[in-house]
Amino acid sequence: MSLERIRHAGLREKVVSAKDAAALIQDGMNIAISGFALAGNPKEVLPAMVKEIQNSGIRKKINLWTGASTGFEVDGLLAENDVVMRRFPYQSSKEMRQRINQGDVQYTDMHLSMSPQSVRYGWWGHLDLAIIEAAAITEEGEIVLTTAVGNSPTFVEVADRVIIEINETFPENLEGIHDIFQIADPPERMSIPLTHPDQRIGSPFLHVPLEKVKAIVFSNVPEKGPVFSPVEDVHQKIAGHLIDFLEGEVAIGRMPPNLLPLQSGVGNVANAVLAGLADSKFSHLRVYSEVLQDSILTLLESGKLDFASGCAINLSRDAMQKLYSNLDWYKGKLMLRPLEISNHPEVIRRLGLISMNTALEADIYGNVNSTHVLGSKIMNGIGGSGDFTRNAFLSFFFTESIAKQGSVSSIVPYVSHTDHTEHDVDVIITEQGAADLRGLSPRERALRIIHQCAHPDYRDALQDYFDRACRMSGGQTPHILDQCFSWHTRFQKTGSMKENESDAL
Ligand code: COA
Repeated sequence: MSLERIRHAGLREKVVSAKDAAALIQDGMNIAISGFALAGNPKEVLPAMVKEIQNSGIRKKINLWTGASTGFEVDGLLAENDVVMRRFPYQSSKEMRQRINQGDVQYTDMHLSMSPQSVRYGWWGHLDLAIIEAAAITEEGEIVLTTAVGNSPTFVEVADRVIIEINETFPENLEGIHDIFQIADPPERMSIPLTHPDQRIGSPFLHVPLEKVKAIVFSNVPEKGPVFSPVEDVHQKIAGHLIDFLEGEVAIGRMPPNLLPLQSGVGNVANAVLAGLADSKFSHLRVYSEVLQDSILTLLESGKLDFASGCAINLSRDAMQKLYSNLDWYKGKLMLRPLEISNHPEVIRRLGLISMNTALEADIYGNVNSTHVLGSKIMNGIGGSGDFTRNAFLSFFFTESIAKQGSVSSIVPYVSHTDHTEHDVDVIITEQGAADLRGLSPRERALRIIHQCAHPDYRDALQDYFDRACRMSGGQTPHILDQCFSWHTRFQKTGSMKENESDAL
């Protein structure tokens, strides 16, 4: 434990054990934590609370608020021990997902840009306690955050009490990578003075009213980070279609040669596709995104990317080591902002972002499902994909044309859950090709999606559905209502969306 990390002498008196800090958590409390997407969440106090519950046998349940998903030491552990009643606003944990889908945890999945203001408006209730992970505390008692800013500024603003976890596994010279700017609420809200992705508009430190700090805990639990699956042939094909598409836009003068700032979503597909840009001829790229994944380091090293702004940096263990071994070089090229700024519609529209997110499935008219498997079971949540898609200069969705070894078509007659409507989605790309939907009517979009994006195994069946829908129902967006979900119901019955000769759609 290095007390030097607490440069404000008075705050050194607040250091306690994780067990003592956890005792501040009472049954039924609303607890908010720092962190975003497996990065920057506290790693000691909540496990200490779980241990205490296990040892004492006394039940305790909390409502958990975060910026987004968390590491196992939060969502995984709390879900396994059935400690969470309500969960806002995003998760991606296997254990938490299971609890939610069983109906044990009430989960509100929402556009992440709206989560901090929902907290300040009091829509989730009163915030009892915030637990914030820090790399250090300054002479003035301000927090040097770790790998995420997320919703921490709002949480410390509204919480009654704050616990700070100083994690000594992070280098102290993360200091300077954050830019914390807070906005006021209506009717006092002003415009956000951000016109370039690399602009600094706030403070490198998180201000916390000192009287709120009730405990400081030291931690030595390292960040585990995600494990990305290796880049596959399909990802390279998707990246290839994206690069061709963007080159076409530049050639006809719709974008500058270094493109507009890029936003890239979460998960394997987005990570692999963004990394693919390292092999393109584009240079001097800029990223203005939410989560920065491994591919950002690849692009910076390739010299293609000048700067990346996000609200968290979510790296695999190898990429993390690379970052920390050359942190001063990377620091000049990276900035972490509050979620409310990284995902703000005003900024996204002003900068003119190219948004790139991943779909679980898309339908023939361009609606996208990013969140629900077979219409009912939550995967992760909408995250920031809606913030970016609705407000982007140009919005892309990627998906492999098939899933589950081909038994699922990612292009379906009608999505089983809608996150992004046909009105927001500009281009869908699968390994088969890119469907540019801009300026097209639904009937025109259907033909393009079926023939450019669907897997050949499913193309004829989709065309057949569309033809019959046009004949039987007609209209602006033809559908056969008692058949539009039959691909999903067939999968539930037979384990495949593929139709047998005897089982006509
Ligand atoms: N039906 C059922 N399952 C499907 C499916 C479909 N149509 N399409 C994909 N899947 C399954 C895959 O088989 C895989 O399952 P597994 O974990 O059991 O192997 C899983 O979904 C993830 O698929 P993968 O191809 O690895 O994609 P990914 O890691 O890129 O994640 C999303 C894709 C959609 C789940 C992820 O991007 C997400 O949560 N998006 C919503 C939030 C978001 O976009 N945030 C970004 C804002 S900045």
